[in-house]
Amino acid sequence: MAEYVLGTHDAELERLGFQARLWADVAHAAWKRARLLRGQSVIDLGCGPGFASVDLAAMVGSEGRVVGIDESASFVEAANGRGVPNLRAVVGDVQRASAFVDGCFDLAYARWLLCFVPDPEAVVAGAARLLRPGGRLVVHDYFNYTTMTSAPRRPEWTEVVAATARSWRARGGDPDVCGRLPGILSRHGFELEHVDVHQRFGFAGDTMFQWASTWWRNYAPRLAQMGEISDELRDRFLGSLAEIEASRDQFIVMPPVWEIVARRG
Ligand SMILES: C[S@@+](CC[C@H](N)C(=O)[O-])C[C@H]1O[C@@H](n2cnc3c(N)ncnc32)[C@H](O)[C@@H]1O
Repeated sequence: MAEYVLGTHDAELERLGFQARLWADVAHAAWKRARLLRGQSVIDLGCGPGFASVDLAAMVGSEGRVVGIDESASFVEAANGRGVPNLRAVVGDVQRASAFVDGCFDLAYARWLLCFVPDPEAVVAGAARLLRPGGRLVVHDYFNYTTMTSAPRRPEWTEVVAATARSWRARGGDPDVCGRLPGILSRHGFELEHVDVHQRFGFAGDTMFQWASTWWRNYAPRLAQMGEISDELRDRFLGSLAEIEASRDQFIVMPPVWEIVARRG
């Protein structure tokens, strides 16, 4: 398996925590839409260090349970170390989830996962096997990723965002995965109940801007290390980020986050 492109170091763990809190309102609204109830069983696919899993465990309560799956042993350890009795995370490849997880779940959640896996169809097929009839799969992920830009547009943003999409594709991911999902879902017996898109902007001094800046301060150096961009472009890009932050009249257009709720027939 190719190494997970964003890494599993402490800075990425902290970034995931910040990101999860920033998007918690969207996640809770989607779970409500998917009829999540106390006492239910949930599987969190690609749970990372378990930030969404912990919220899900609080929602289903002590009579419910949450199982998280992630390929990163250190993230799984972090999830299990949160001391949440009705949450258990296991190490494994989400593309083969039904081979090592038993059970009949009411809800499966996959946030910012499918854009990183070589075979999203295998993940959906596994979710179909793990969900009860009428259970829901909720996805938050990307389509049109390369529309992320600065406003006004700056050429270094176009180059670095394109390099990011390239770096995911080179490791089997797809930054446009949500465009393929309706077809994949219908092939595996899901009925599409809801599709929506969350478009956000980051102005200097707000938390959405900080989401973008924590991301780029981690990932622009990684792109340079991977040889996807030159050191000169990395420095020019990070300089441009600092200028936007100082300007107060420029902003960042975030990549659109798609929300899909599908019901297993
Ligand atoms: C951007 S993080 C999102 C984590 C979590 N879903 C959240 O929203 O906080 C993507 C996660 O997917 C995991 N991942 C990527 N490919 C995987 C695979 N094939 N099997 C299991 N986990 C995978 C990574 O280890 C990482 O924890």
